[in-house]
Amino acid sequence: MLYPDTITLTNPLDMHLHLRDGEMLHHIARESAKSFSGAIIMPNLVPPVTSKEEVQAYRKRIVEAIGDETFTPYMTLFFKPTYDKTFLESVKNDIAAIKLYPAGITTNSEGGVSGFDIEELRPALEAMEELDIPLCIHGETNGFVMDREAEFVPIYEKLAAAFPKLKIIMEHITTKESVAALERFENLYATITVHHLYITLDDVAGGMLNPHLFCKPIAKRPEDREALLKAALEAHPKVMFGSDSAPHPRHAKESCGCAAGVFTAPVALQLLAQLFEHHGAPLEHLQQFVSGTAQKIYGITPPSKNVILEKKPYTVKETYGGVVPMYAGETIDFSIREIQHG
Ligand code: DOR
Ligand code: ZN
Repeated sequence: MLYPDTITLTNPLDMHLHLRDGEMLHHIARESAKSFSGAIIMPNLVPPVTSKEEVQAYRKRIVEAIGDETFTPYMTLFFKPTYDKTFLESVKNDIAAIKLYPAGITTNSEGGVSGFDIEELRPALEAMEELDIPLCIHGETNGFVMDREAEFVPIYEKLAAAFPKLKIIMEHITTKESVAALERFENLYATITVHHLYITLDDVAGGMLNPHLFCKPIAKRPEDREALLKAALEAHPKVMFGSDSAPHPRHAKESCGCAAGVFTAPVALQLLAQLFEHHGAPLEHLQQFVSGTAQKIYGITPPSKNVILEKKPYTVKETYGGVVPMYAGETIDFSIREIQHG
């Protein structure tokens, strides 16, 4: 397939994004707000976002930080089994989803769920089902690091079977087992990051250790990456782009006790264009992966924005306010030429 030199993406969406708070929020929020129409904002602040007041206040801080960019932050709450229907009804219009973390599995997830006892979770999840609030899940057990996601698949399936009308989004999937699970339950969906489409564990730890590619879930095997690539490149109708762009200050990454997270927000769309071109995948599929599918699954209509990418080498900046992006200092094939607001 002959690829055009410019690619226009309409209303790109990032369905899994960490914007942080305070100084960090001010340093990095515009990097997403410039090139995306909207994003699902993760609630793992310290303390996590668990009340209506907190979610409204956090949204306000985000809107202030992005200034005059056209960008909708789709907010989330940090899942607690104690959420009841009255509370969820009262907060429904402030959120797009609720994010569930297994306790202690990743950055700031200490207050998450342990045990996954269906009866304990039932009141909250039935209320979410009735109110049509999607449940986003970080699906990892606390087993051996390479097996954590595959071990979590039976938990996804147990939840999907117990709450058949609940939209369950398997976040940042990294394994062929998760891709396969999509076919077994109608109410299972997934997001895939750009870094998991590019890297395997070899890129993280096969040579000199690269802390800027260390994240949770950790990148897996080549055959896992193949399964993810296939789903993204064919625009699987249940698979959305979610960057999981997760900034940490340079000193927290380049240290003993490296924080998990890859900062991809400033290069995500360029890298996706490069990938789809490399594989000769139809541009329509890229459009679906970065916007269309998410609009259908979440029932959202993002503000108008056209991002025009061109095939022109771009050398990735070394840092953004003290945060090192994926492929810092390296040259990639696509640049952002122009952004048009609708
Ligand atoms: O690598 C990760 N970083 N994975 C997560 O699940 C959380 C994220 C973060 O917040 O830093
Ligand atoms: Zn995340």
